[in-house]
Amino acid sequence: MATSVQSIGIDAMAVGYQTGSDVIFEQFDLPPSNQRQLGVPHPTGTTIPLALRPCQSQTEDINLDDVITTIKGLQSHNKLLTKKLALHGTLLFRGLPIRNADDFSRFAHAFGFKPHEIIGIVVDRPVLAPNIAPANKAPKEVLIHSHNESPQVPHAPEYIFLYGHKAPLKGGETPMSSSLELFQRVQDEIPEFIAELTEKGILSRITYKKEPQFSGGSTLKEAFGKTIVDGDDLASRRSKIEAQIARYGRGIHTTWEWLDNDEGIIVTHRLPVIRTQPGTNLPTMFTGFASLYTRKNVTEQLYGDGTPIPEKYLKRLVAITEEIRVLHRWEQGDVLIYDNIIAQHGRQPWEGEENDRVVMASLFDGDEVPGAYGDADWATVVQALEG
Ligand SMILES: [Fe+2]
Repeated sequence: MATSVQSIGIDAMAVGYQTGSDVIFEQFDLPPSNQRQLGVPHPTGTTIPLALRPCQSQTEDINLDDVITTIKGLQSHNKLLTKKLALHGTLLFRGLPIRNADDFSRFAHAFGFKPHEIIGIVVDRPVLAPNIAPANKAPKEVLIHSHNESPQVPHAPEYIFLYGHKAPLKGGETPMSSSLELFQRVQDEIPEFIAELTEKGILSRITYKKEPQFSGGSTLKEAFGKTIVDGDDLASRRSKIEAQIARYGRGIHTTWEWLDNDEGIIVTHRLPVIRTQPGTNLPTMFTGFASLYTRKNVTEQLYGDGTPIPEKYLKRLVAITEEIRVLHRWEQGDVLIYDNIIAQHGRQPWEGEENDRVVMASLFDGDEVPGAYGDADWATVVQALEG
């Protein structure tokens, strides 16, 4: 495997050198199934992922404290790693002394992002360390198609950290692809689909009850009930839940309907699929269409006006996504970081035992949310309100 060495942060970390605690990262190449050059609109020669490891001369000596000092230094210098994420979509860190959930938590927090508060979706995962939970717990046979995280709710994380604690011998790869490139390909091949999405957006309709509505789903209390206490009557429970829903800041574009007999609630969002990347204003396709398409027997995909999205478009979208993705073959200790606005992830099935693959996840918010594409007011998402 050819190795191209290009150190990053040498200029940025001049001060750090004086302390002697710097780790110097170098870029390296992965096999073609695991890394590719991104297409338009990415600058020529931009790879996904950008793969980084400590300089080979350093690997004997590094410890996690030094890694954290270095990451903080790089981020304090003009958010260097945040910028790399916005360019490549995904970064891989390999060869770092990260061996458990606590190490991973400390590493992830060094980037300076704000932990993401999950509102309105699955929270049924144990907390393993601060802001660390197991990644998707679906059984090993289940293929999770590429998606941006949380496209079905208005408050999505901006950065996703995944840590490979244990890698299976066969399968279990994590796909990565660019949503900017996906937009461009879909625009070129099925412009009428982009036009429809731009004009209408989508409807996301989620039912919450006392019991989860599918394996891994969240209950109404988990999704919106964090301020509810024992003894609250029906009226105060409802007003507390409505106050949480209001935190999305969607105004008339989020509506809800209480079910009879205190059974639950159906929440409907009109949301944009096409958003724009802060800083560049490039259009990005922010979607879980491919993963939802394979569950189409349970989830119908609707445009924002309530009409169904033609299956032929979804099918083509899945095919394009597979053409532009690579599959990350995990090595123990790897950390992948996704810029969720412009990159998609998923999960391949694996052979062997369920616990042959252990991947942990950590979600963070960014300083900015994606911008609107077009000027419809439903196309604007906002940062969740405090509360
Ligand atoms: Fe996901």
